[in-house]
Amino acid sequence: MSALAASRAPERTALKQVQDLVRGCARCPTLVRCRTQAVPGDGAAPAEIAFVGIAPGRFGGDRTGIPFSGDRSGTLLRSMIARSGLDRVFITNLVRCNPRDEGGRNRDPSAEEIASCSEHLMRELAIVRPRVIVCLGRMVWTRLAGKKAPFKPARPATIALGPATLYPMYHPAYVNRGAYTHRRYLRDFRTLARYLHRAHTAEQSARESSRRLRDANVAVTSR
Ligand code: URA
Repeated sequence: MSALAASRAPERTALKQVQDLVRGCARCPTLVRCRTQAVPGDGAAPAEIAFVGIAPGRFGGDRTGIPFSGDRSGTLLRSMIARSGLDRVFITNLVRCNPRDEGGRNRDPSAEEIASCSEHLMRELAIVRPRVIVCLGRMVWTRLAGKKAPFKPARPATIALGPATLYPMYHPAYVNRGAYTHRRYLRDFRTLARYLHRAHTAEQSARESSRRLRDANVAVTSR
């Protein structure tokens, strides 16, 4: 089920417009031929975190219409989000259609397909305004952080995309292949949750200090 209902009304309206654009998008003729449906991002808006994957999976989003749902990658990602206590998340992809090779198997999207889809992603991020953008896997990381940025999973990067910090993590498919343990993956998600909590607390205390300073100034000038 879509999680858009968790959004505030103006953001929900804006996201619905992007959803319509995505669902009707026919920019990449090859993808239009192989997709079952185009899959827009889904989740809360505004959101604390946006998770960005590669493209809807053949047995997942391509079938369900919701990113990271109905397949093993989606099950793992969503269970890690729940187990680390993260909420107000938005989940999306670089590319909105499932790319397949001639044999009907999942393939990586081409650079042209990613470029042609990036407008949809940027529109979503502008509406969702996440504090952190989690890049799931090296391909997403390279695309959003740039070719020269080293991929160091589970460490907040000093690189930003607009007001959001980019944060690299392994892709759930990499973990499902057995290249990284579930235990370590969960630890990474909990590190991310702590990082967000600290960022939130620091922002709140900065806001509180500037309010106190303003009140003190008012008291001095009105004496
Ligand atoms: N499902 C998605 O939505 N994205 C991926 O990158 C993989 C599976």
